[in-house]
Amino acid sequence: MTDFKALYNQKKMTADEVAAQVESGWLIGMDSAIAQTPAIMDAVCRRAEGGALQGVRVQFLLDSYPFAFLADDSLAAKITGQAWFASSGARKALAGGWADYIPNYYRDCPRHIRANYDYDAFCVSVSPMDKHGYFSLGTVSSYSPAMIDKAKRIFVEVNDNTPRAVCGAQLHISQITGLVENSFELPTLPPAKLDETSITIGNLIAEQIQDGSCIQLGIGAIPDAVGLALKQKHDLGIHTEMFTSSMVDLIECGAVNNSKKQIHRGVSVTTFAFGSKAINDYIDDNPAIAIMPVDYVNNPEVICQNDNMISINAALEVDLFGQVCAESIGTKIMSGSGGQVDYVRGACQSKGGKSFIAFTSTAKGGTISKIKPILTPGAVVTTSKNDVDYIVTEYGLAHLRGEPLSSRVRQLIAIAHPDFRDELRFEAKKRGILI
Ligand code: COA
Repeated sequence: MTDFKALYNQKKMTADEVAAQVESGWLIGMDSAIAQTPAIMDAVCRRAEGGALQGVRVQFLLDSYPFAFLADDSLAAKITGQAWFASSGARKALAGGWADYIPNYYRDCPRHIRANYDYDAFCVSVSPMDKHGYFSLGTVSSYSPAMIDKAKRIFVEVNDNTPRAVCGAQLHISQITGLVENSFELPTLPPAKLDETSITIGNLIAEQIQDGSCIQLGIGAIPDAVGLALKQKHDLGIHTEMFTSSMVDLIECGAVNNSKKQIHRGVSVTTFAFGSKAINDYIDDNPAIAIMPVDYVNNPEVICQNDNMISINAALEVDLFGQVCAESIGTKIMSGSGGQVDYVRGACQSKGGKSFIAFTSTAKGGTISKIKPILTPGAVVTTSKNDVDYIVTEYGLAHLRGEPLSSRVRQLIAIAHPDFRDELRFEAKKRGILI
């Protein structure tokens, strides 16, 4: 039998030794959240700072470490980040013009990766090796299998704190070029701030969800508030892009048992998980959660196979046609499309399914209405007027799918903040969209 431990020791190296192999012009791939490799990236950045590298590109999704190539423009032309989805560090770099953005539906990332890119290296954080020589990719599957297929070299950071997902992506020691041991406390997302308004929205949506439904909760405070409001439900299932802290709460309080799902009965399905430490503890060695590739999990044809599929996502602004912008403020990229459209479509195709896009009616201390006559110039449309289903604010629900324009306009004005309703009505009439 192969001595996997001997192979492990042969491949063990320092982050600086990995960085020393990187050459100018390389394309390096990383996945999202805790799958990212801080020690290797720091070492690569140090080499670039020293002037040894030019034209390196690093792809990632949802940056979860303060990578030096995103922090400021000092590494511009040496290392360029390419975000499939931006978090706070990448937002700043994209706005500053020293990082790039790849527009996508998340489910298509594996397809783009296989069709468009050849990676000189794929870097990923993993759990310790098991007795068969396998490392778990922890809480992330996402597009990692596609990057693994397309990478010339694979470098891993082995972290004792990375959970072992028994129904998740794996790498074998024989596939790995080099490994760095780096055990540290994994990053977490701060718990969402739940104020009275988000709790009201959560309760409005919870009223629309029947026992036995299958849920997807998106990223942000409002989806978390809905999670909280679902604790009194029974027999819920989970089929989601991102497995969140509130989902662990729903499982632990007994509201979720996955017993009514048509596919993957008894099992929660996600493509990655990120949030509290409780998530990592829940996933470790747990066959009740499957972490599967995003081209499967986020495929609307798969999503809709569960009856009563409910998707709940957030937005930054919505116009009176019902066009949803969830990823930019004007042309300033805030995040990405992620799986919003995939879940809107999947839920709407599911028997008994519904999709909710929910947000507080105003931003910036009540000075800006998120329901607008037209989107802010430059804003990108995430969910189109043809896909949108329910829009929700603290003032109620608007059901737009299949509705005429004038009904959409009336319903949206009715759930806008009262301070902005007259102005919205005036603008709608002026533009001839309110008859
Ligand atoms: N005009 C100006 N600023 C606005 C705004 C608007 N209409 N709406 C929000 N903002 C500001 C907020 O004030 C906040 O600013 P701050 O960071 O200075 O406080 C910032 O934009 C973020 O807004 P917030 O509502 O707090 O965002 P969130 O964390 O709840 O996330 C989305 C909301 C829409 C950005 C997030 O859900 C997203 O990225 N969605 C797209 C992907 C998706 O839905 N995926 C689904 C599967 S996971």
